[in-house]
Amino acid sequence: MIGNRTARMDEQGEGGVIRVRWIPKYTAMERVFHWGHTVTFLALAMTGMILFFPFLRPLAQGEGGYLVRLMHRAMAIAYGTLPLIYIILEPRRAIMSLKSVFKVSGYDIEWIKGMIPYYMFGRHEAMAPQDRFNTGEKLNAVVIILGSVVFAITGLLMWFGKGVLPIGAFQAMVVLHDVAMIVTVCMFIVHFFLAVVHPLMWAGLVSMRFGVTSAAYAQEHHALWYYGPERAEEIYEDKKAVRKAEDQSSVD
Ligand code: HEM
Repeated sequence: MIGNRTARMDEQGEGGVIRVRWIPKYTAMERVFHWGHTVTFLALAMTGMILFFPFLRPLAQGEGGYLVRLMHRAMAIAYGTLPLIYIILEPRRAIMSLKSVFKVSGYDIEWIKGMIPYYMFGRHEAMAPQDRFNTGEKLNAVVIILGSVVFAITGLLMWFGKGVLPIGAFQAMVVLHDVAMIVTVCMFIVHFFLAVVHPLMWAGLVSMRFGVTSAAYAQEHHALWYYGPERAEEIYEDKKAVRKAEDQSSVD
């Protein structure tokens, strides 16, 4: 299904033949939703920034400004409609994804503690086992979901509430919309770096492009999802014991 170039990075078979076992991760609908949301988010961020930054204000004047506002509204409709289509067409998957994104466990705290050594300093021995989404991906999803709720409420009130809402309430909507923009754009930059630039996350991008991930990658990065809680816990405890022994021997 996926080119050999990707396959070569994964599992080594016999006689130099590379064999990769791919397992399904995202449906076609989920990928369309993800990429559609990415494109509309970027368009909203760019048109929104023209309205937000004083130095870009000349672009927000006259006919150009009218077009920017029109584009922002059109993209907002697409941005809001995409998740609704996902929920209507694949309600079970949508509920499953939402549940796993908002599920917090002790492993998330451990993952956060190990995140910097693992991703920045290559200390790869024992990361807390992760579900279908790792803690970082869950954090990204929660920020984007909550941010999108704020965008929708404040955006609709700005859109239809001009001249109707008291001026103070209208200004509060603008400020909240701006705060949501700053927070979600920062999160987007981190997400982009990890998904596209970071060498350890290559399989994440493959799965969002092709819908599958390699079994070896899932075993290493999503053990809870791949093995289930009991086996994942055993493997994690074994890895921690090995690391402790290694740390001890390097001290001695
Ligand atoms: C459901 C989604 C959204 C809706 C309904 C919405 C709606 C609106 C509306 C009606 C305005 C006022 C435009 C005007 O001046 O005429 C606005 C401004 C703005 N939007 Fe959105 N928007 C949405 C999502 C987003 C997203 C995802 C971003 C950025 C990532 C964003 C960033 C901004 C910014 C920065 C402004 C300028 C606010 C200011 O004047 O300080 N919006 N939005």
